[in-house]
Amino acid sequence: MRTQVAIVGAGPAGLLLGALLAKAGIDNVILEQRSGAYVLGRIRAGVLEQICVDLLDEAGAGARLHREGLVDDGFVLVFGGQAHRIDLAGLTGKRVVVYGQTEVTRDLMDLRAASGLTTVYEAEDVALHELDGSRPWVSYRKDGVLVRLDCDFVAGCDGFHGVSRASIPKDRIETFEKVYPFGWLGLLADVPPVSHEIVYANHERGFALASLRSPTRSRYYVQCPLDDKVEQWSDDAFWAEFRARLPASLAERLVTGPSIEKSIAPLRSFVAEPMRYGRLFLAGDAAHIVPPTGAKGLNLAAGDVGLLAQAMAEFYRGSEAGIDDYSRRALARVWKAERFSWWFTTMMHKFPENGPFGARMQLAELEYLMSSRAMQTAVAENYVGLPL
Ligand code: FAD
Ligand code: DHB
Repeated sequence: MRTQVAIVGAGPAGLLLGALLAKAGIDNVILEQRSGAYVLGRIRAGVLEQICVDLLDEAGAGARLHREGLVDDGFVLVFGGQAHRIDLAGLTGKRVVVYGQTEVTRDLMDLRAASGLTTVYEAEDVALHELDGSRPWVSYRKDGVLVRLDCDFVAGCDGFHGVSRASIPKDRIETFEKVYPFGWLGLLADVPPVSHEIVYANHERGFALASLRSPTRSRYYVQCPLDDKVEQWSDDAFWAEFRARLPASLAERLVTGPSIEKSIAPLRSFVAEPMRYGRLFLAGDAAHIVPPTGAKGLNLAAGDVGLLAQAMAEFYRGSEAGIDDYSRRALARVWKAERFSWWFTTMMHKFPENGPFGARMQLAELEYLMSSRAMQTAVAENYVGLPL
């Protein structure tokens, strides 16, 4: 087989890149190790920045998002038992859209199915070859048959544990990492959300987050020890802990119900530099991870593939300037989002090793934030998303 761009991974980064390239008339094949149903079953992100929405529109996958997405003008910070609002629209003129990653993925999958482009699900043993020349190729096994796919470029959109970053020689890539000493236990349930604006709570028992997927579906999280197992958490135990971390005004509105999904995610900050090796370009979680506080992961993945699609289109028009500058441009934005996600995580979670002094520093900073329009503006402009 031959294509112009071989894309590894059919998460949001791979699917959106495939759609943007198709719009530019660039042929591409996506290789995904899991089934489509498995990819759709992973409950993850829920908040989209305007830049992400614009890219989905450009790709032709924005129609349902505009019908069903919930536009939020602000979010809520809880500390010292009180709720405080950050007025995103008033401070920045911009908003965010609550629309699940699952739905983004489904819309992109439907678009791709209609386009007739090739997607190979359950592609096993994907391996990348001759990345440092101008004729790279990818091999994989499908239904026991070994297949060779020749291409001009490989796009590594295969997430944190994928094969793409691992295919770069160790002396050609540098990595930066911070692992946090706790995780997030998330629960999805068909109950009306406590708030249509997302709530981030700093509580002495630990962080809690109240998010949503629709007017009838809630997505809630609590900070938990890293070695907790999801089987240890009954729904009742989750609801009791979540309620205990909410201020009274919200706790009294909480509606509980059976979980549809429950999972624990570790928190990590990670960046790999550069995001290119020869004809391989990394995008999304393959190149960087942010802790989820602030909802930047999916949005960064979208930003990367927006830049990469532009750069590849320029290449086929005769200029290599875009692909040569891709890593620098993407990383400039990635590091700023890393900083914001790290800051927001540090501000809102319980770090027992920092003791009571650390907890008082968090409260002082949160109180300062709410007293300073300048600082609120800085937080809001990061939250709605920095320009590409
Ligand atoms: P992935 O979604 O990881 O997709 C990679 C794909 O590659 C997968 O389908 C995988 O099966 C496939 N793959 C892996 N290895 C191979 C291989 N060897 N061969 C072929 N295919 C392979 N982000 C936000 O922006 N907002 C949020 O609100 C938010 N909340 C989050 C909440 C949680 C609990 C978590 C865990 C994450 C959250 N994120 C959020 C982060 C966001 O989900 C990720 O950043 C996003 O999924 C990255 O997309 P991706 O396409 O780069 O990677
Ligand atoms: C969600 C996740 C986040 O990390 C966040 O900051 C807001 C919402 C969510 O999954 O809905």
